[in-house]
Amino acid sequence: MIDHIRKLILEAKRKADAESGSNVEPQFAQKIDWPVTCTVGPGLEGAIACESAVGYVNGSAGKLIYRGYDVFDLCAYSTFEEVTYLLLHGELPTEEELDNFKAELCRRRHVPRTLRQLMSNPIEEMNDMAALRLGVDFLRRTHSKVDTIEARPRSETAISSDEDSIPMEKAPYGEKKAIYEFTKNALGPNKPVDLATCYDLIAAMPTIVAAVHRIKAGKLPIEPHPDLGHAANFLYMIRGEKPSLLEEKVMDVALILHADHGMNASTFATMVVASTLSDIYFSIGAGIAALNGPLHGGANEAAIKALQEIGHKDNVRAWLDGKLARKEKIPGFGHRVYKAYDPRARILGPLAKELAKEHPECRTLTETAEVLEEEMVRRFGESKGIFPNVDFYSGLVYMTMGLDHHLFTPIFAVSRVAGWTARTIEYLENNRIFRPRAVYTGSFDKKYKPLAER
Ligand code: CMC
Repeated sequence: MIDHIRKLILEAKRKADAESGSNVEPQFAQKIDWPVTCTVGPGLEGAIACESAVGYVNGSAGKLIYRGYDVFDLCAYSTFEEVTYLLLHGELPTEEELDNFKAELCRRRHVPRTLRQLMSNPIEEMNDMAALRLGVDFLRRTHSKVDTIEARPRSETAISSDEDSIPMEKAPYGEKKAIYEFTKNALGPNKPVDLATCYDLIAAMPTIVAAVHRIKAGKLPIEPHPDLGHAANFLYMIRGEKPSLLEEKVMDVALILHADHGMNASTFATMVVASTLSDIYFSIGAGIAALNGPLHGGANEAAIKALQEIGHKDNVRAWLDGKLARKEKIPGFGHRVYKAYDPRARILGPLAKELAKEHPECRTLTETAEVLEEEMVRRFGESKGIFPNVDFYSGLVYMTMGLDHHLFTPIFAVSRVAGWTARTIEYLENNRIFRPRAVYTGSFDKKYKPLAER
């Protein structure tokens, strides 16, 4: 099975190399002599915010590189844990380093206190991304000075055991309040982020996402499974059953593909907050908020809704004509940086089709997607550089695995937290607060009128 998936990914790579070449974009792949001169458009298009060795998106050749490695190769040969280690540490791990890293993540998956705090809120009524952000906020509290990993309850069955037997957290009052405040000292002087905190976030976010999903479905959260890898355990905590080998591998690939992507909106939002020397939990909260938007992480949900609305491959052309006549954007297509085929879509497309073989009920949607892709590329590929992006196929992949559409963007966050944290750590080494300016287009000489005269 793994060999078959690897073959599909390498086949997609051959296609990408044949169609797009592998030239680098000089402006975005060289050391900078600050200050830099560049042409900036609205939405900061073209702006260069910093230097980074974490990852590189080559928009004109459709290439995605993490720390020097082509994402096609990482998807074919590695795992999300390996890629996360690579992003955070700069090098691929040795076998021993990988084993230790996996054990660290596994240990940090258990966040029963955070989940109990979360469950005392009306999360059934909340958007999943809002609940995730709240969960990260509770993690922050749990990991603050007095409430370290060592101080956490040892019982790994805390959530599923009798709640009455567990001392619930109370809002601290008076003198004790201060110890719940998360100070920079908690992580050492002048260290608003450290690797251990990043590991905590990467390990705990899947647990929070899965728990929120289950609670909203009227079910109890499931304890993480110590024998399963990151992707398989995530699926297990969501669905309550171990995934098939194919599902595990496809989820792992999807997590690798979403782990980092240049200075995208959520990464930038994370780094802007971090650059104020606020802490990493606040920073990740900003990333989650930015990712929630339909122009960013929310597009995969919109793409699935579009396919469902179309309903059948024969309806694609008429549906598309109507949308374009109304000047509406087609979700899952186009990209600020990629003007060639998004390599992530090249990989996820064939995997969606592979999954559909196991799930015939999703075949109609997959066929509809194929025709929509053909039609969009025919109309806008050459002329406007509009191709399917990662969100066009990620939703389809998740849906075929039986995952609810509310989970799509949280899954994106579970993966992207690797890039958010890696880039934040890197940036803070030579931090400078982000502070662009706006061009003022208002007037200058209005005379103040007292309220009564207005
Ligand atoms: N459908 C139809 N036309 C499009 C689309 C689309 N999806 N995307 C861009 N265009 C056209 C757009 O109408 C414009 O045409 P014209 O020059 O004739 O006015 C031209 O392409 C440039 O579009 P833009 O909106 O100025 O491009 P942008 O760089 O500001 O926006 C984008 C990029 C991703 C927001 C946009 O392509 C879009 O809204 N796509 C749909 C939403 C989506 O799929 N988002 C996921 C992005 S990938 C995941 C991620 O990284 O978060």
